[in-house]
Amino acid sequence: MRISVFGCGYLGAVHAACMVKLGHEVVGIDVIEAQVTALAEGRAPFHEPGLPELLEEALATGRLRFSTDAAEAAGAEVHFVCVGTPQKRGENAADLRYVQAAVDDLIPHLSPGDVVVGKSTVPVGTAENIAARLWKDAPEVTLLWNPEFLREGHAVDDTLRPDRFVYGVQAGEADARAVARLDEVYAVALADGTPKLVTDLATAQLVKVAANSFLATKISFINAMAELCEATGADVTQLADAIGLDDRIGRRFLDAGLGFGGGCLPKDIRAFMARAGELGADQALSFLREVDAINMRRRVRMVDLAREELGGSIVQRRIAVLGAAFKPHSDDVRDSPALSVAAQMQLQGASVTVTDPWAVPNARKKWPDLTFVDNVEDALRGAELVLVGTEWPEYVALDPEKVSRLVKDRRIIDGRNCLDPTAWRDAGWTYRALGRP
Ligand code: UDX
Repeated sequence: MRISVFGCGYLGAVHAACMVKLGHEVVGIDVIEAQVTALAEGRAPFHEPGLPELLEEALATGRLRFSTDAAEAAGAEVHFVCVGTPQKRGENAADLRYVQAAVDDLIPHLSPGDVVVGKSTVPVGTAENIAARLWKDAPEVTLLWNPEFLREGHAVDDTLRPDRFVYGVQAGEADARAVARLDEVYAVALADGTPKLVTDLATAQLVKVAANSFLATKISFINAMAELCEATGADVTQLADAIGLDDRIGRRFLDAGLGFGGGCLPKDIRAFMARAGELGADQALSFLREVDAINMRRRVRMVDLAREELGGSIVQRRIAVLGAAFKPHSDDVRDSPALSVAAQMQLQGASVTVTDPWAVPNARKKWPDLTFVDNVEDALRGAELVLVGTEWPEYVALDPEKVSRLVKDRRIIDGRNCLDPTAWRDAGWTYRALGRP
């Protein structure tokens, strides 16, 4: 199958390479020239485990190319829209300008019988608007909405072996043909038994934001329990283990700590609330305001805890922050809790040094005034307080004895509840964590 992929960011670049792995011929289109050049040379413009190898393999087949020219999409039978939908500046709503631009760029190159597949996370109603647009400008083209659930850091695996496929369709014969086409695209995974749910367009768009809202709610629930644990001296990690053993609840996504960040959960719940407001259903999602507020409170708590640990003031105190990415195995710093805490402490007068195995270049672009170093040793040297903001395996594996000689004072705050408190305390450290005594 010949495929075009509009948008070669975290979602589109991985999708394009994975589609080649599934046997298809793919052109990835993006407006950013540097991104296209890097991908065409086999360089992933962001850190995603497995992507460089996959790109190399896909380019070697001769069935993958990248371009800034939308006309290259002509001749493809299935066109995926994978562009970003960031939060609008100063508003909660999603910015749909990239989706609109991609559709504008694509329309002149469509042929009768083509299928346009929306994968971007959009406010419900967007797909219907695109369908209406196609109806007018490309009447023999069918739109399906096929949300993507991949997690950064696991994107390749999540794309090749998803939990489920959701196809949002309108009703009619053309849709049945389009569904059959998309089935061909995903034939390998479907043959492996991946469940497929065919829904209307509105449901398909809602599935994605509902799933992300549920995940965000689960994290904020456990972080609210962490607040209670802090008030009572209880241990939130034990609490999570205990409630997680009830398989109606489940242990996953119950890791308390600095909370959620990244390019999806925070902006998706905000855009969902904004859209619900437009639909006159804002009350239904008022709980998400609380989910967001609990999440942001964790960052404030971390700074307060740092101040408390340093005897009431962080001004001019040397603080090492381990982690800048919003989560491990990613170099994405969008709405990163670790980086936001580091920046806040710096703004309040602390002398902060941040390290991260992959995210330093992105973090530096965002907060040029912070001090960044490339390795843990340099970050720890002379620190009066160490703060773990991202649970990279190398930070979890730190030997508290060995690193003791680097720091000025042995104080650590585990913002991700990822360290063994006993090991750190036994090595003479004052260990503090969010939601643990
Ligand atoms: C998320 C969804 O998981 C994915 O299905 C969707 O397609 C995109 O949004 P992603 O943003 O890549 O994926 O990361 P995810 O693994 O969900 O983590 C999001 C944030 O929540 C991270 O900052 C992570 O540190 C935090 N988190 C996650 C917790 O604080 N506690 C947890 O128990 C789990």
